[in-house]
Amino acid sequence: MFLWGGRFNKSSNNDFLNFNKSLYFDHVLVEQDIISLIAWSKFLLYTKIINKFEQKSIENCLNKIKNDVKDNFDIILKSDCEDIHTWLEKELISRIGKIAKKLRTGKSRNEQITTSLKMWCKISVKELILCLKKVQLNILYLSEKYIDVVMPGYTHLQIAQPILFSHWCLSYYEMINRDKIRLNNLLKTLNFCPLGSGAISGVSYKIDRYKIAKDTFFSNITKNSIDSVSDRDYVVEFLSCISIGMMHLSRLCEDLIFFNTSEANFIELSDRISSGSSLMPQKKNPDVLELIRGKCGRVYGSLISVLVMLKGIPMSYNKDMQEDKEHLFDSVNTWKNCINMIALVFKNVSVNSNSCLKSLENSYSNATDLLDYLVKKGLNFRNSHEIVGNIILYAIKKRKYLNQISISALKSFSNFFEKDVYEYISINKILDRKDSIGGTSKNQVLNSIKLAKKRI
Ligand code: ARG
Repeated sequence: MFLWGGRFNKSSNNDFLNFNKSLYFDHVLVEQDIISLIAWSKFLLYTKIINKFEQKSIENCLNKIKNDVKDNFDIILKSDCEDIHTWLEKELISRIGKIAKKLRTGKSRNEQITTSLKMWCKISVKELILCLKKVQLNILYLSEKYIDVVMPGYTHLQIAQPILFSHWCLSYYEMINRDKIRLNNLLKTLNFCPLGSGAISGVSYKIDRYKIAKDTFFSNITKNSIDSVSDRDYVVEFLSCISIGMMHLSRLCEDLIFFNTSEANFIELSDRISSGSSLMPQKKNPDVLELIRGKCGRVYGSLISVLVMLKGIPMSYNKDMQEDKEHLFDSVNTWKNCINMIALVFKNVSVNSNSCLKSLENSYSNATDLLDYLVKKGLNFRNSHEIVGNIILYAIKKRKYLNQISISALKSFSNFFEKDVYEYISINKILDRKDSIGGTSKNQVLNSIKLAKKRI
């Protein structure tokens, strides 16, 4: 069955029909389409195009179809209909006969597809926010469990300064929090119902668009019918939210992959989420992290594909737009799977506090604090920087770390050095002093954890 055909003399070419089809992916919108059709049937009753009995039959039948297809898309998929809208109409007609043929009065697929897609996006966004919350909870669990672990913080992948492992964890809490904020903003964008826009120019029957919006769970309506049927900004916005979220996960994975190397040995992934090598018996590989990092590519690809697909489209609806859905559906699925995997990772990782500490001790991560020491004693910053730079050169030559240099040697660089310097540049003292809001002192990190729990 087609929703068109009257003006055609020849039957369609089969290859073209297959090429034109979207049912194999847009069937996931069946519930949303049903909700909007029920809302439309109420409008048709209001305009007296159908009577009460007809409206009830349509509504009951649509609800029955909804139940029949719940978690079982097979009955839809074995049909050869062009799209989900066609399938629903065919199904309705086969179940309740010609009453169903009135249902599409004044209604275009152009407005229907974007309405259903927006509804689907709203549900997916809410699900994703819940998944992200779970990751945040697991991050907090790990931060509390390892609150006393100190480790090197890196810039340029060079050891920079000491930080708490929990402080590193909380940096990802913040990134994920911004992902949630972006999704919540997207929910606002998604709250404008396009129904009542027709194919492009509106509806010629008296229609209360606000009532239809309410019946389809939108809080507002779109303002221009031409824009309504051709707007896919929300798809691009959703894909950008996903892309940014995947970028965050990918960076997290990159950190964890490094922490998990035999060289760093800061963490160990549990056997339950690691895989082995078919040839090298010693290997325990972080496939899960590499896969998430790798899947970033397909999501970015989808964002770019949809942007490019849209950029040359004249007003208003064009079939090009059918290409948005596979990208969006795949990206939403990919992000959801990756978020859930990361939640699992946080529950299946252990931290090697000794390796973290050792790596910090065998480094010059306290150089900035040696500099601060001189500043505290009265020397200006620039000269102190120069002096500590020279001490580092000396230390590298002597194969020593800063706390192993004797006081007399230090004094040969500056008279400001005294015995209290060793305590000043000890890891614990360094961390304690980083007590600015958002800093890495235990005091601040504990406070951040407390606040983070409330913010969730
Ligand atoms: N399958 C189409 C899409 O995904 C639905 C709208 C079709 N409209 C039309 N006039 N052919 O965009």
